[in-house]
Amino acid sequence: MNGTIKLALIGAGMFGGDVHLRAYADLQRSGVAPQLGRIGFDRWARDLAPFTFDLAAVASRSESSATRACDIFQQSTGHRPRHYCGAEPWMDVLRDVPDLDVMAVATPDPLHTPVILAALRRGVHVITEKPMCLSIHEADQIVELATGRNLIVSVDMHKRYDPDHLRIRDEIRNRIGDPLYGVAYLEEPLEVSTSRFKWAAQSDPFSYVGPHWVDLIWHYYHSKPVSLTAVGQKKRLILEGIQAYDAVQVRVDYANGMSIHFHNNWITPPDFEGPVNQGHEIIGTDGKVESDQQFRGLRYWHKGGGSRTVNTHFTREIARPEGGKTYVGYGVDSLTAGLAAVCRRKFFGASRDELAALYPTAEDARLTVAIVHAAALVRDLNFKYTQSGLGAPVTARFGSDGITIIDPIRAGEGASVFARVYEKAI
Ligand SMILES: NC(=O)c1ccc[n+]([C@@H]2O[C@H](COP(=O)([O-])OP(=O)(O)OC[C@H]3O[C@@H](n4cnc5c(N)ncnc54)[C@H](O)[C@@H]3O)[C@@H](O)[C@H]2O)c1
Repeated sequence: MNGTIKLALIGAGMFGGDVHLRAYADLQRSGVAPQLGRIGFDRWARDLAPFTFDLAAVASRSESSATRACDIFQQSTGHRPRHYCGAEPWMDVLRDVPDLDVMAVATPDPLHTPVILAALRRGVHVITEKPMCLSIHEADQIVELATGRNLIVSVDMHKRYDPDHLRIRDEIRNRIGDPLYGVAYLEEPLEVSTSRFKWAAQSDPFSYVGPHWVDLIWHYYHSKPVSLTAVGQKKRLILEGIQAYDAVQVRVDYANGMSIHFHNNWITPPDFEGPVNQGHEIIGTDGKVESDQQFRGLRYWHKGGGSRTVNTHFTREIARPEGGKTYVGYGVDSLTAGLAAVCRRKFFGASRDELAALYPTAEDARLTVAIVHAAALVRDLNFKYTQSGLGAPVTARFGSDGITIIDPIRAGEGASVFARVYEKAI
């Protein structure tokens, strides 16, 4: 059996222009079969080996970043995708490539939903960056459309594929007993919020990187949130004229009784040894797991370069004997999972439901978005009250009745303490 999966990449910045682009270059050269054994899909290697992948288009806000990505892709594959730019270039791509199979979305956090919905409306599968979106109402729209059209929406939750996390989920988790509490942190460089992103003020450190850990905890325990509280600080970025949170801390309580603290910032000075600082700990009734995701044991220093660490598990280049480099790591694995599902859907007629266990789904992402959405509301209220000397008493409750914000300060204003912001069961 032969066939082609046609891809378009929307957003070619720090992540789209690097990890997605390089992963799709390897697909263009050699198909998906070489990647399958890494995620336990080796039984499909022969089935999927004949299918080719074609990156038909790359779209970005500016023409220069779109053409730069196309130049890089052409250098490594010999194939040049068509480039698009503008405010809604994904619409031009959908018009010009009527047989598109997959739209890969790597636009800024607040700009995922319109791209995803436009693709789904045209019957195109989606591989999207996290967070899938920032609003639970948008998440519902995405899930509804994908379900109704039998389309794959795979969310890039690559922490699921980190070899350490696979070991924790499959073995260590069972040894440490019932989870009691934990902490998960991801601290990003100051450079990201001050110079890389033009959109820092429209997102925040928890919405940006918190979803990685929120999804991982869901993937480990499949326990839904019951309540949360959140606070944030604004002291460093305002010095740069950026009205955004420096750091956000969220505590989520879950139906299984565990309480997990998520700590995120994007103000780490460049002197820090690694690209990001990250890790997690979970304490159970019979033990504890600690996972330092930043320092994996590889550290080096040299004159003028400071002391540095690298995480070769995330992505690494492997030299080909004939020249050039291939690209592997858990950063690629989660894209592979979604694309393998698309292949099973397109070429073997598997239904969306049959494939749901194989990749991070829109339904999984909806739960993460519920937490991100509620945390933003609670954090803003607590920030306002803290500034006025009233402390941080606001929380959110999740349940079969939806999401309720509980704000005791409102009682003093004669208003209801409870405000329902979402009406469907979580
Ligand atoms: N999975 C991960 O570990 C990871 C890491 C970094 C970023 N991300 C996510 O990837 C997404 C992109 O992040 P980034 O770091 O590449 O950001 P970035 O700001 O470097 O790049 C954003 C890209 O989107 C493009 N863009 C902006 N507006 C557009 C529009 N209207 N139409 C088309 N393109 C548009 C920009 O031109 C740029 O190419 C974000 O959602 C981010 O959270 C994920």
